[in-house]
Amino acid sequence: MGCEEDARIAFSNPMASWDVLSSGWRHLSSKFVNERTIYISPSDVVYKIDSWSQQNWNEHHASIELSKLHLDGWEIPPTELYKVEMESVLAMPFIEGVTAAVYYGIDPISPYSMEMEERLYNRSEVERFFDLDDLHAENIIVRPDGTHVIIDLGL
Ligand SMILES: Nc1ncnc2c1ncn2[C@@H]1O[C@H](COP(=O)(O)OP(=O)(O)OP(=O)(O)O)[C@@H](O)[C@H]1O
Ligand SMILES: [Mg+2]
Repeated sequence: MGCEEDARIAFSNPMASWDVLSSGWRHLSSKFVNERTIYISPSDVVYKIDSWSQQNWNEHHASIELSKLHLDGWEIPPTELYKVEMESVLAMPFIEGVTAAVYYGIDPISPYSMEMEERLYNRSEVERFFDLDDLHAENIIVRPDGTHVIIDLGL
C-alpha cells in the first residue's frame, strides 16, 4: 500500500508547502499546531503524521486486532506504520465516500449529535463491538455502497 519514501515526504512537509502540493500530493487536514497533519499521496495513500503522541502506534495495533472481527456493513481499513526520525507516520488507503456527518447530515458541534449518531448508526453498540470510544460521525467514511469504514481508531 504505502512506502517509506512517501512517508518521509509527508513527514518532511508538516506545513503543506506548495512544493509538496504541486507535486501531486493533497492536504486532507491539520487541525491545530502539533496535531496530526494528514496527506493523500499521488498514489491515493493517506499518510497521518503524529509528532507528539502515541496515537498512530495505538491505531496501527488496534487495526491489526480489529480487522479480525466482522460486523455486517462495517469495515476497518488495513494500516502500515513507518518510523521516520523517531516519529511515526501511519499509512492507510484513501477511502472513497463522504463522512458519516455529511451522509447523515449530522452537525458535529450540535448538542444533539450524539443522539443522532445513536439513532442513525447505533454508535454505542458499534463502539462496544470494536471496543472503541470515539466513534463520532467524522471518524467514519460511508462508501458509495453504504459500507461504514472507521478511519480513526484513536481514543
Ligand atoms: N483513509 C481516509 N480516507 C478518506 N478520508 C480520510 C481518511 N482518513 C482521514 N480522512 C478524512 O480526514 C479527516 C480527519 O481524519 P482523522 O479523524 O484521522 O484525523 P484526526 O485529526 O485524528 O481527527 P480527530 O482527532 O478529531 O478524530 C476525517 O474526518 C476524514 O474526513
Ligand atoms: Mg478523527
